[in-house]
This record gives sequence, C-alpha cells and structure tokens, in this order.
Amino acid sequence: MEQRDRWATKLGLILAMAGNAIGLGNFWRFPYQLASNGGGAFMIPYFIALFFLGIPVMWIEWTTGRYGGKYGHGTLGPMFYLMARESLKPKGALIFGIIGGMLAFAVSSLLSSYYYQVIGWSAAYTYYSLTGAYFGKDTVQFFLSYVANTKAVIFFWGITMVLLGIAVGQGVSKGIERWVKVMMPLLYVFAILLVIRALTLGSPVKPEWSSIKGLEYIWTPNFTALKENFFKISLAAAGQIFFTLSLGMGIIHNYASYLGPEDDVALSGLATVSLNEFAEVILGGSLAIPIAFAYLGPEQAVKGGVGLAYMALPNVFMHMPGGRIFGAMWFLLLWFAGFTSAIATYNYLVAMLEEDLKIDRKVGTWVVFVFLFLLGLPVALDSSLVYLSELDMWVGSYFLVLLGFFDVIVGVWLFKPDNFWEELHKGAFINVPEWFKPIIMYIAPIFMAILLIGNTKDYYSMGALSFHVSKAYVENVLGGAYPDAVPLVLKARIVILIILIIGAIEA
Ligand code: PHE
Ligand code: NA
Repeated sequence: MEQRDRWATKLGLILAMAGNAIGLGNFWRFPYQLASNGGGAFMIPYFIALFFLGIPVMWIEWTTGRYGGKYGHGTLGPMFYLMARESLKPKGALIFGIIGGMLAFAVSSLLSSYYYQVIGWSAAYTYYSLTGAYFGKDTVQFFLSYVANTKAVIFFWGITMVLLGIAVGQGVSKGIERWVKVMMPLLYVFAILLVIRALTLGSPVKPEWSSIKGLEYIWTPNFTALKENFFKISLAAAGQIFFTLSLGMGIIHNYASYLGPEDDVALSGLATVSLNEFAEVILGGSLAIPIAFAYLGPEQAVKGGVGLAYMALPNVFMHMPGGRIFGAMWFLLLWFAGFTSAIATYNYLVAMLEEDLKIDRKVGTWVVFVFLFLLGLPVALDSSLVYLSELDMWVGSYFLVLLGFFDVIVGVWLFKPDNFWEELHKGAFINVPEWFKPIIMYIAPIFMAILLIGNTKDYYSMGALSFHVSKAYVENVLGGAYPDAVPLVLKARIVILIILIIGAIEA
C-alpha cells in the first residue's frame, strides 16, 4: 500500500492543529456568548468545562485519530469500528462505526455549509473596510443589505471556497501544512496589534466608557448572575468549549491520523488546547468586547449579540483614527481564523472519498467542492439567516456533544480504559497524572449526558422540537419572523435528515 501522507514537521503539525481549533469561534462566537451570558458569570463554568470536558475529550480524539491513522484511516466510521472491536463482535462494532461515521460526516458537511458563509462575510468586510464602504452609514442596515445581496455573498463565499479547494487539493504535508505556516503567524501578529490598539483606546464619546471597563466586565467573577441563570449559562459555556476546541467534529481525529504511530499526542493535545485558549480568552477576549465598551458603551456592547463582530464593530472602525486599516485587519483576522479551521472540515470530506472510495485527492477535492457548494447555496440565499441559525442549533447543541459522548464510549470504554491509557502514553512527552483517569472515564461523559438532557429540555420547553416550531423559538433563538421562518426551519431539518442518511450509507 502507498505510504499515507504525514505531517512533515512538528511545527507544521502544531500550527495546523492550532489553526484547526482557532477559528471564528474565538473571535466572533466567544465574545457574543460571553456578552449574552453575563460576562464574568460565564467565565466560571467556562473554565470548569475546559478542565473536565475540553482537555479529556481533546486527548481522546488525538489518541483515537492516531490509532486510526495506523490502519490507514482518517475518518470516524473505521476508527470507531476498529476500537469497538476490542470489546465487541464485528456486528456490534459496526453499529458504533455507523454512529461515528454518520455524526462526523453530518458535522463536517452541515457545519461547513454555514461556517464558510461567515468566512465569506469576513472577506467582503475586509474589502469594505479598505474602501470605507460602510463609513458614515447605518452599519446594521449595511449588514442586512449585504446578506440580501446574493451576488456579493456568493462571490466572496465562492473565492473563499476556491482557495480552500486549492489548499486541500495539494494534500496534507504539501498543502495544508504550508498554508497554515504562513497564515497562523500572521493571525497572531494581527491579533496582537489589534489588542494593543483596543486596550489603548480612550473613549471619544464619554470619558467614563473605556476598553478597560470591558476587561473588568469579563474578568470579574459574577456569582450572583451565574446563580440566577445557572443552567442556561453553564450550557452555553460547555457548548462554547466544544465548538472552540473543534471537539465532537471528527476533525481533530482526522488531523491526528496523519501522525506516525509513535508520535506524541499527550503534550501535543495539551498544546492545542493552550494555544486555542490563549487566542480565545486573552486575544479574543481583549478585542470585540473592550472595543465595543469604549465606543458604544456597556449597554450596547452587551446587547451586540451575533452581530457584534459584523454590525457593532464597523460602527467603531468608521470613527477610529486609522479605522480603514484596523477594520481591514480585524476582518482579515477573522478570515484567516475561519479559513484555517475550514480546511479541516474540507479535508475530512476529501479523506472520506480518498480512503473509502479510492477517489484521487485532486478529483475528490472538486467533488467535495460541488457538494459543499450545493449544501451552502440555501444558506447563501436566505437573507433572514433563519436557515443558518437552525443548522447551527442542531450542530452546536446536539451533534458535537453526541459525538463527544461517543468518543468516550468507544475510544475509552469499548477500546478498554487500560488500552486507552497505554495508547495515550505511547511516545508521549508527558505523563498524564493517574488521578486524571477517572475524570476522562466518568466525569466527562456524565457532563456530556447532562448537557444533552439540558439542551433537550431547553428546546422542548421553548417549543423548538415540535413540528410547527413555536413563535418564541423562531423569534428568540433563530431571530426570524414568524411564520415566514417555519418553512426554512423545516427545510433545514429535511436537509439534516438526508445528510444523516447519506452518512449511514457511507458506513
Ligand atoms: N474550532 C473552530 C472555531 O473555533 C470550529 C470549527 C472548526 C468550525 C472547523 C468550522 C470548521 O471556530
Ligand atoms: Na477555537
């Protein structure tokens, strides 16, 4: 058999994994999750989830991925099958293979269908910042008319997709690794320059507004607010940990499959977590919210919601000295962050074709291109963003957590805890302390089960799970107008179902 592609250098691997994890999640999603969940109240469950959920699942996914790669597989169906075989007969193991393959395929394709769009918005806004197109305008209106401008949306999303296709088509070591080696250092440079700018912003509007107030909002633990909304805030925090670390997606496993069988996973997994968290709480936390605090004041900053990055901040850039450059830098930062994550879901789908159907990578890349284009088109055409939000709710609240749950069931329990521990330490640069084992075996899966039940209760009580979704759900969660949104929600659910069925057939 032909030698499987492998990461050429340790640095390349670490940058690729960091690029995978560091994404729009850090700079766009984190700030608005933080703002809409009480700032300092959010950070408490966030760090708890990081420790009890993020780190354990990260180690499991690295270990599972390297194990699969040893047998020539970079996708979850075969990986779960091989590991479950340690405890089960072929038929039983196949069931877990199907579950893993189906969920990972669903996440890679559905997540891409809307996440690539948001990357496209960043490309457009980089351009609009440079030209000053939104300067002096109502930025909310500007954003709404941009997403309604189908031609522009498809154009910026399209060039993003073509570049993704080129990078992935070149392969792992010759493509992905080379691209991230350029993009990731740039990303850090941009982020650091922007943080310096953000923290030295005085408020031109009111002297008592300042970016430092924004930092205080984030970093002052707020137990009172947490108590009031304990469940809601904790669910959001744990969901963010999953999203930002790229857990429950299949893409950490996939990247780890390009390791050699004796390459370290223990320290590298921890390094991925650390690099992502630095980029999230330190860099991501010091940008959108503090900037908004200085220019828009605490009330507006906290209300920014999903639109914080694309609607509130442009309002700031147009009034800031050097705003065109800083605006462009911000949106290019988002673009790089999103791009280096998107490469991973794209590669997952190409690996599937390459390994399961023996389709040549070059051909597979453009087959996936067409597939993702068709899947993304309804998102691009829906200017109400209801369709996007509905996909996000299923992927973010269910599929990721479910997949993470099965990571533990298969990668630890069925593979057998002692095997897992041995596999995790094969070639390891560090020893994971023995007391962490029960956290991985018991606490992490219980945490995820609670998360799943909590999310279900939440959506059920909001009327999201009934056939004709409720008005409250459409208006408060999806942000659309009832009843126009209902057909879009149904369409999204049908697409999700079809994708799950295709995923099952693949296995
Ligand atoms: N970890 C990524 C982020 O923070 C999530 C992601 C990865 C999304 C790959 C899409 C594709 O943005
Ligand atoms: Na991230």
